[in-house]
Amino acid sequence: MPVITTIDDLKRLHKRRAPKMFYDYAESGSWTEQTFQENTTDFDQIRLRQRVAVDMSDRSTKSQMIGQDVAMPVALAPVGLTGMQCADGEIKAAKAAEKFGVPFTLSTMSICSIEDVAANTKNPFWFQLYVMRDEEFVDNIIARAKNAGCSALVLTLDLQILGQRHKDLKNGLTAPPKMTIPTMINLSTKWRWGIEMLQTKRRTFGNIVGHAKNVGDTSSLSSWTAEQFEPKLDWGMIAKLKEKWGGKLILKGILDVEDAKKAVEIGADAIIVSNHGGRQLDGALSAIRMLPSIVAAVGDQVEVHMDSGIRSGQDVLKALALGAKGVYIGRAFIYGLGAIGEKGVTTALEVIHKELDVTMALCGRRDVTTLDPEVLLIPQDFE
Ligand code: FNR
Repeated sequence: MPVITTIDDLKRLHKRRAPKMFYDYAESGSWTEQTFQENTTDFDQIRLRQRVAVDMSDRSTKSQMIGQDVAMPVALAPVGLTGMQCADGEIKAAKAAEKFGVPFTLSTMSICSIEDVAANTKNPFWFQLYVMRDEEFVDNIIARAKNAGCSALVLTLDLQILGQRHKDLKNGLTAPPKMTIPTMINLSTKWRWGIEMLQTKRRTFGNIVGHAKNVGDTSSLSSWTAEQFEPKLDWGMIAKLKEKWGGKLILKGILDVEDAKKAVEIGADAIIVSNHGGRQLDGALSAIRMLPSIVAAVGDQVEVHMDSGIRSGQDVLKALALGAKGVYIGRAFIYGLGAIGEKGVTTALEVIHKELDVTMALCGRRDVTTLDPEVLLIPQDFE
């Protein structure tokens, strides 16, 4: 086992250990992948101010997200098919997050169900909802999330129509994989993954199969999404869903000031400035580039979170300094999970925590909750 010191180390191991179809599913964006690439390269353009001779003892990364104490303001983002990167992946990731003291968000499109995760964790987790055409299914899944004690609903707004992801289409992405000759050849080299998968019964969408009407063929993900997801979702429907849920509501996929203002109007507890990790509208600007204007417009009225492109604790510090109260990591924890399971998610969190803490210290800051743009050197043309 190589020594792991960065998220990139985990990514290399993930690629080696997971089937190509699922590694590609994680490591891709839509269309030309311009937005996917810029999500990370834009972080690199922001530089840091080195400060010295400041008392650096007693540093703290502790904070709160939507009123919940967190060891650092970094939550695990909802990621579909997590349980295909590694057997029982959602349970393993949720356990790692719980032990570390950060929120875990379960995707509607998870392999382990809400009930599976609730039965294997002690603390409440957050549930991410995709709004389907089948209203009864939506009502039921909201009720299931409530029954499981989920403490926030993360309502995703940027994927009512699936962005075109060429790698998934070429690989014929399915869960579980269909046994074509190229898949079988690839799986024959992924024996650890295969043994673990044989030991679990959780191999398809746990929240959907057996719960939704007209479920059809979930194995063809892109056509299934087109059939099932509600293309009419608008602010009126969002307000009704807020009422049905009745608890903390986080709106995910806000990338425009006007939409952020609408989110404030309907009374969201938080918004996530996000372009879905570059998987939806290719050509959109990176989330870190959109963050400052959204914070300036609504930051005093709603808690602003962000994701898309975070690969290090330095990235976390940059987002917090630009006004995010919390961030989410998607691929960064998936690499860990796909590489070495629960331990890999813990390692990803440890790597990010260490980088955040050391960067804070070298920037002359002790408290993660009081970061501001003064710690950054931002290129003039950035915003
Ligand atoms: C996602 N994302 C996502 N979002 C969501 O609301 N529901 C989902 O089911 C998924 N599924 C999903 C699968 C995979 C493989 C990825 C990489 C991402 C988006 C996710 O929550 C988050 O917005 C991005 O992952 C953030 O970007 P980074 O951190 O991956 O760069």
